[in-house]
Amino acid sequence: MRPALNEQALRQLKAALPAGCRMACASSRTCEVGRPEMAESPSQSIRVLDGTMQPAGVHTAIATHAMTPKRLCLVTALATCCQLAWAASPAPDTSTLSGELKTALEATGDAERGKAAFDDCTGCHRKDAGGRPLATVPRLAGQHASVVVKQLVDIRSGLRQNPRMKPLMAEPGINAQMLADIAVYVQGLPVPRNPTLGPGRDLALGKALFDKDCAACHGAAGEGRAERFYPMVAAQHFGYLRRELDLIRNGERGNSNPEMASLIKPYSAAELQAVADHMSRLPPPVR
Ligand code: HEC
Ligand code: HEC
Repeated sequence: MRPALNEQALRQLKAALPAGCRMACASSRTCEVGRPEMAESPSQSIRVLDGTMQPAGVHTAIATHAMTPKRLCLVTALATCCQLAWAASPAPDTSTLSGELKTALEATGDAERGKAAFDDCTGCHRKDAGGRPLATVPRLAGQHASVVVKQLVDIRSGLRQNPRMKPLMAEPGINAQMLADIAVYVQGLPVPRNPTLGPGRDLALGKALFDKDCAACHGAAGEGRAERFYPMVAAQHFGYLRRELDLIRNGERGNSNPEMASLIKPYSAAELQAVADHMSRLPPPVR
């Protein structure tokens, strides 16, 4: 399947390209999606000019490795095009949902209002939504809006236990529209490239575990999957990831996907550390 770009996405694509690339890329309306079953997450692998398949995360790297301007344009165009298609990936199916989650997901978020509302959050999550690694406050910048909405709704209902945020999230001024606004705002923020990393001792083990047990949902590049509420785990702070894995494994996160929880259950402490380290080092998918 080749996700087609609509006119608005094409305009965004052209605007995002480096100067001089516009002509070469204007006709790049489709992405070559590597594996058909991955079509809903086209950022996972795309065909670059020489015909090889590359995970999306490496495109920035390829692009910066001296290439002819034309090739650079094409790689950038494909990467950007796929990212756009991905960013515009199917919204979650809300037909079976109810309550605040359904209302917030069906609301059209307004990033400007979201920015104002996010003022109340910056004390912990920071102004750039980059999080506070020492206090295990997660980075929110670049996270899928659907994931942000779902987690906020779960925190409000108490399904996800988060004592530090609960009082704020219970304030009467907060409603579904505000959650939608905040979610589109933080999703659109650039992902800071400096997550705190783990010790780096068992990266091969971490990658092997991730590819075997986690990539099916979170994506090989850790990009997550908006329409299924699978969080982007790439470039998240190691300390936060490590803490969440404990909470998920011990059944203390409340809203954990049961399949994930049972996959993680037999992990040793060393394996949890290795897989968290691997995730923290995955480059942020370009948006
Ligand atoms: C007092 C500090 C604090 C404030 C204020 C705060 N947060 Fe948080 N937030 C946290 C902590 C700590 C976590 C992670 C808790 C855990 O480990 O499960 C978190 C988690 C989250 C998550 C889940 C992220 C994920 O990847 O699953 C979202 C979304 C979030 N916060 C959004 C917000 C928004 C929006 C606001 C403002 C309305 C806000 N937070 C205000 C501390 C705070
Ligand atoms: C069946 C799909 C699925 C699989 C497989 C899966 N996850 Fe998840 N994961 C989820 C979903 C859904 C969430 C968000 C809500 C929840 O369930 O807590 C999540 C959340 C997370 C979070 C918290 C992210 C955040 O921002 O707070 C981490 C960390 C994580 N997963 C790591 C892993 C690791 C490591 C593996 C492999 C050992 C894995 N997951 C396998 C579906 C999956």
